[in-house]
Amino acid sequence: MIDDEKIIQQTVAFVQEKLKNAEAGHDWWHIQRVWNNTKLILETEEADALVCELTALLHDIADSKFHQGDEEIGPRIAGEFLQHMGLDKERIEHVQQIIFNMSYKASLGQVDFHSKELEIVQDADRLDAIGAIGIARAFQYGGFKNREIYNPGIPPQQKLSKEGYKNTTAPTLNHFYEKLLLLRDKMNTATAKQIAAHRHLFMESFLQQFYSEWNGES
Ligand code: ADP
Ligand code: NI
Repeated sequence: MIDDEKIIQQTVAFVQEKLKNAEAGHDWWHIQRVWNNTKLILETEEADALVCELTALLHDIADSKFHQGDEEIGPRIAGEFLQHMGLDKERIEHVQQIIFNMSYKASLGQVDFHSKELEIVQDADRLDAIGAIGIARAFQYGGFKNREIYNPGIPPQQKLSKEGYKNTTAPTLNHFYEKLLLLRDKMNTATAKQIAAHRHLFMESFLQQFYSEWNGES
């Protein structure tokens, strides 16, 4: 049986190789941040750390958005890799279940799998969508899509359809109301709730400053 440290190291190398041409929202740095968030949460939450860390590393290796909506491709590639690494079958299946079930899209629908490990990695991923990093990622995405940063004539949508939340051409500021400001209350673990509260306040103060500058105030 291969030791935990070694399997993590080899997974890091595998993921870095897989993501070397990835778009900036889901590149290796996103993975590294989610992995760090995972380790931070694990300091105060009880769970199978190996499953959590491996899932954090492998959760975005093949986004269904870029594979004709194939939601199985990520878990499949992760599973094949971990099998090759000699990880036990039970843990491999657990990692696959989490990857399959943790996307925001999946969480809007009927998720039929739950575990402490899923809660932790999902929180770690969501934490990377809020706070200063979340703001940077949102504008990076908006810029990539050539969106307006803000338009006072286009109010944010209140109710989002399961599939429709990212198919809009709305300005990037709307995304804060449609997703980013909702994430704090979606955190699963007490640890992530605490971290999210801090990052949420930062986004609120960013928005306040944004509107005052927009309106020609100091
Ligand atoms: P995830 O992989 O967590 O499901 P997405 O692929 O939806 O996230 O988004 C990746 C990043 O791009 C996130 O930081 C998210 O906030 C941002 N993003 C997604 N959709 C939009 C949008 N319509 N406007 C601005 N940012 C967006
Ligand atoms: Ni992610």
